[in-house]
Amino acid sequence: MTEAELYTLYKGVYVPSHLHPPQSLKYFEDFTFRPDDIVIATYPKSGTTWMQEIVPLIMSGGDPASVETLPNWDRVPWLEEHRACVLNLEQRPSPRLFSTHFHYRMMPASFFEVKPKVIYIMRNPKDVFTSSFHYYGITSFLVQPGPQSEFLEKFLNGKVMFGSWFDHVKGWLDADNNKRIMYICYEEMAMDLKGSVGRIAQFLEKPLSAEVIEKIADRCLFKNMKKNNMSNYSVVPQEFMDQTKSEFLRKGVAGDWKNQLTAAEVEYFDRFYKDKMRDVKYEFVWDL
Ligand code: A3P
Repeated sequence: MTEAELYTLYKGVYVPSHLHPPQSLKYFEDFTFRPDDIVIATYPKSGTTWMQEIVPLIMSGGDPASVETLPNWDRVPWLEEHRACVLNLEQRPSPRLFSTHFHYRMMPASFFEVKPKVIYIMRNPKDVFTSSFHYYGITSFLVQPGPQSEFLEKFLNGKVMFGSWFDHVKGWLDADNNKRIMYICYEEMAMDLKGSVGRIAQFLEKPLSAEVIEKIADRCLFKNMKKNNMSNYSVVPQEFMDQTKSEFLRKGVAGDWKNQLTAAEVEYFDRFYKDKMRDVKYEFVWDL
């Protein structure tokens, strides 16, 4: 199917039409936040599913009931997705957990008034590219990636779902209410999961014992999450996501771009990155 058939241009970025019909976008725009809501914000393929496992476990004090019984999209639903309208989110008890792939500037009016806490995860864009390249290829609701060089061009120029990685990251880093935003990199979680779980728990003002933190970190290891059918997307029908081609929880490592990009593509990417990110002061932990 063509770009025009698969995507809707919403506030200047492509969103998959199948997941974001007009009524879902309207629901998102009208959504009313509570001050104790917790929002996980990410550019796709940056560690959303990982955080959708970590945060519910922290909030439940390590009780695995919700991660064992609810799919990640129900446990920490995307507010802009078609499912949000039917999940009765208004009735959920506080603190409610949500996800969003939207840019900061696309958040609804209530978000800026209420200022709920946000965890914003960033990942080396070369790995985001690599993960996306494989992911687009297994879905039926995204434009197929085509040759790698073409997909790279689209990725760098934001002609992919949720637009430009660069604009997404810069927008959230420049957020006005950034005291209520925790910034964390995928690579920090990969290097020190226990320490990261502890920091996230602190940000969420949820004191946990070292033992519980250890238990949560263990459950959230890639190899363990891969076995969790409520998090590995195995319940999605193959016609939407064909995991026989590449799994959703694919490799779960930092630096796989080294196996994906050619030397020329790396050089091109680096030049692009330098130009786009020249004013960004944030010290990312990744090795570009
Ligand atoms: P790869 O394709 O590089 O393996 P998102 O959930 O934002 O779509 O991101 C998906 C990426 O996060 C995939 O990357 C996936 O494997 C990785 N991921 C998910 N859970 C993880 C975990 N527990 N540890 C490490 N990586 C994880």
